[in-house]
Amino acid sequence: MKITYLGHSAFIIQANGFKGLIDPFINGNDLCPISTNDLTGITHIFVTHGHGDHLGDTVEIAKKHNALVITNYEIGQFLANNGVKVHSMHIGGRMKFDFGTVKLTSALHGSGIDYNGQVFNGGNPCGFCFKINGINIYHAGDTGLSIEMKLLKDEKIDVALLPIGGNYTMDIDDAVKAVKFIEPKFVVPMHYNSFDVIKADPEEFKSKVKNSKVIIMKYMDEIEI
Ligand code: NI
Ligand code: MN
Repeated sequence: MKITYLGHSAFIIQANGFKGLIDPFINGNDLCPISTNDLTGITHIFVTHGHGDHLGDTVEIAKKHNALVITNYEIGQFLANNGVKVHSMHIGGRMKFDFGTVKLTSALHGSGIDYNGQVFNGGNPCGFCFKINGINIYHAGDTGLSIEMKLLKDEKIDVALLPIGGNYTMDIDDAVKAVKFIEPKFVVPMHYNSFDVIKADPEEFKSKVKNSKVIIMKYMDEIEI
């Protein structure tokens, strides 16, 4: 399996014929070196919540690639109304797909969808636990530290993707506590330095995490696992 970082909270997970894109904030992110036109063969898109830096380019990419979007019920309704193919789930729900298993996890955050000057109800924000080819990946979405993260220890997470930027989400010290709760083998920091208010030093995070290996990914870096 290959995991590619597109910056902010956007990742691509590839395994066999599956190519899943998480929180595609690409064209709006000036730091991202690619545009949505550079993406090929996206089969699925996962959206953690309705904010623009996560829902991002979902509508455009989903339509162009005929990709299935997996997200919460409310965002699913919004996307279906915009002509996108959707599989809706909700927090705590687990579902087996042909590529693997997906579970929606809770996140402490908001989820309003700001679209063409109107705000739509994006339901409750979420994170995702994936089990693909026997590898367990947790994408936290945007969230504060929560005691629910202790439940993730039982999911035997191989790779945890955690926000560290503060202001809207966990900061470094809270993300370090989250790692203690989750006990993943590897942890990748995300959602930092893309905006002024979420400045954080990933090396500081790395130095504070014990018992899990921190992998600092630069834009377009790939890891094979
Ligand atoms: Ni957000
Ligand atoms: Mn965000």
